[in-house]
Amino acid sequence: MEELIPIASKLQDVLGALGQNTNLDLPQIVVVGGQSSGKSSVLESIVGRSFLPRGTGIVTRRPLILQLFNTGGDSDETANDEEEGGERKIASEDDSVTLRRKQRDRATSSDQQEEWGEFLHQPGKRYTDFSHIREEIKRDTDRLTGRAKGVSSSPIHLKIYSPRVLTLTMVDLPETKQGLIATIRTDTITPGLTKVAVEGQPEDIAEQIWDMNVQFGSNPNAILLAVTGANTDLASSDALKLARELDPRGERTIGVLTKLDLMDPGTDASEILQNKVIPLRRGYVAVVNRGQRDVDADLSIRNGLRNEERFFRTHPVYSRDRSIAGKCGTMNLARNLNGILIHHIRECLPELKIRIANMMGDVQDELDALGVDGGGEENGALGGKLLGLLSKFSANFAAMIDGRASNTN
Ligand code: GDP
Ligand code: NA
Ligand code: MG
Repeated sequence: MEELIPIASKLQDVLGALGQNTNLDLPQIVVVGGQSSGKSSVLESIVGRSFLPRGTGIVTRRPLILQLFNTGGDSDETANDEEEGGERKIASEDDSVTLRRKQRDRATSSDQQEEWGEFLHQPGKRYTDFSHIREEIKRDTDRLTGRAKGVSSSPIHLKIYSPRVLTLTMVDLPETKQGLIATIRTDTITPGLTKVAVEGQPEDIAEQIWDMNVQFGSNPNAILLAVTGANTDLASSDALKLARELDPRGERTIGVLTKLDLMDPGTDASEILQNKVIPLRRGYVAVVNRGQRDVDADLSIRNGLRNEERFFRTHPVYSRDRSIAGKCGTMNLARNLNGILIHHIRECLPELKIRIANMMGDVQDELDALGVDGGGEENGALGGKLLGLLSKFSANFAAMIDGRASNTN
């Protein structure tokens, strides 16, 4: 069933490259929460690498759609498989260029790095130095948002291939300032906003960020990772407020508690983890990320994860009770997420199949219309390619639904 996620991710890429605002609600994990609650840290811990821009203020100013691919022992296969998705052709590469790149990739595959990133807007360019990924995210953010430190709802698509990640799709959104959600929901938008925007930022920045959270988080197929610092009051958590707005029935929200290491001495989060404080249907997972001092001291994520493991293993409360220990640590969070995502995609398949069929119908109609108008050959060729891609995805989905049916007793 794991192979479902890469296919869903591919479809996302194709639609992204086409700039389509489709109704395809693809399953993905959306990280929400207040500023500095630890959203970026959680994402980096799951990936196992440091690659996100950091700093004070609103650092994340465009949605980042992050697709993680587990390359297992045979990373080359995943890379070739990607090429079959055809998104590079859509991204205006002609066949001879694609062929040349394939040949070059083959020639260098023996000494390729085992972990790398690739942006959709730079097809074929492999980033093996993750600090360069951070630079490119900053650069491409500025390209669209300008110097005014504004925000844009146009996402950056980044893929990371690694033998050490679980296959997941995650979305990092521009962060909400403390109290932002409350401000917006109490209809005091205009006066509230000036408090949020800093010098030179657009006045409606808070509203734009809210809209992005709604856009990604209200997707019925989104799993919300609601991040709250354990050293703050859960009852006033921006993440939980937002999650309640976007997922009132709590069916797709997981609570993530960060900063367990910063709780007051003598206090612990076991009641929250036992779902006794603010119950969530999917419960909570606790993590310890690198603190600012660790980051400044260049502590690697891997060593941070070791520290986290030791923290929970040696903790007098969290290590004692098995039901709590299973809710502690980034590894447990990643496992939990992957399981939910696979289950979720499986549930969505039949509906996705219908939607893809409808899209194919729409594209065919558009092609027919172009034919009547004598629209240019180029448009016709692109439409034909799109139709081919969609029918291929449709066939893949159908095959998997059939596979599932025959696997079910
Ligand atoms: P974001 O604004 O929600 O993306 O938050 P960041 O991930 O950038 O984290 C904000 C600050 O909190 C950074 O200085 C992190 O190093 C720190 N931080 C995040 N998680 C933890 C944690 O679990 N423990 C400690 N001690 N610090 C953390
Ligand atoms: Na931040
Ligand atoms: Mg962040």
